[in-house]
Amino acid sequence: MPQDYPDLLAGLSEPDDAAIWKIDEQRALVATTDFFTPIVDDPYVYGAIAAANSLSDIYAMGGEPFLALNIAAFPPQLPAEIGSEILRGGAEKAQEAGVVIAGGHTIQDKEPKYGLVVLGFVQIDRILTKSGMKPGDVLFLSKPIGSGVITSAVKADRIGEGDLSETIHWMKRLNRDAALLARKYGAKAATDITGFSLLGHAWEMASASGAGIRFYDDAIPLYPQAARLSAEWCFPGGSFDNAEFFGPHVKFDSRIGQERELLLFDPQTSGGLLFAIPSHHVSSCMQEADEKNIPLWKIGEVTSSGIIEVI
Ligand code: CO
Ligand code: CO
Repeated sequence: MPQDYPDLLAGLSEPDDAAIWKIDEQRALVATTDFFTPIVDDPYVYGAIAAANSLSDIYAMGGEPFLALNIAAFPPQLPAEIGSEILRGGAEKAQEAGVVIAGGHTIQDKEPKYGLVVLGFVQIDRILTKSGMKPGDVLFLSKPIGSGVITSAVKADRIGEGDLSETIHWMKRLNRDAALLARKYGAKAATDITGFSLLGHAWEMASASGAGIRFYDDAIPLYPQAARLSAEWCFPGGSFDNAEFFGPHVKFDSRIGQERELLLFDPQTSGGLLFAIPSHHVSSCMQEADEKNIPLWKIGEVTSSGIIEVI
């Protein structure tokens, strides 16, 4: 029961991205773990994406990661150099984030799996949760949408590995800079977009905050070819699951086609940070993002409707 653990500030009751444990009046520890099966052929890139994804949940809570442990499962017949390339990809991504990987654990399994346990610190008055949005806040996203569609298209041989390069670049990217802007410009609410899709994770934030969201369809950034592939109905199974589960909370403008709806329900791997800041900070936030070349898209606003609208 949450009341039995007064120092546990997040983790048992709400759908937050990581657990938070109070250390003293100012500081808290943020803890998270995530791992998944390969989504690309290159073992180094897979390791880097898995690490970026694990670190992302610390950023989504407003924290700064500092320590991590590997969690890995490798098939017995997997050449040793492939395993070490996966770990090297993870280690170098962690290092980019200023995080040291201090060991971990590997088991044997039929399908490879890799990810991290990550610890970070957060200032208690800077914690970001899903429940802090207020009507009038403005929503930003730090990476395009459509990685599920793109990676399924590669698996189905509908596009080549080469067409994946831009999506890979984004999946490897840390959400650190976007999280810095979110904190600096007064965000109270954030999450990272992963398996539940943009609209699914948006609904988690809206319902936790007792608010609604209005997305501007034209402003939502997409990976190259994602629109074409969705028009060809090339979706991973997760898109349909998300549409079924979260669909009742979403109202689409009548001009938006079904393939576009499913694309916004596309499950993401190592997706962007979605955060809400007060409207009076919007222009300075966008200016700083522009000056520092930090990718950021203004994609919507918080409403009091209690639903997600896409217009
Ligand atoms: Co998350
Ligand atoms: Co996660």
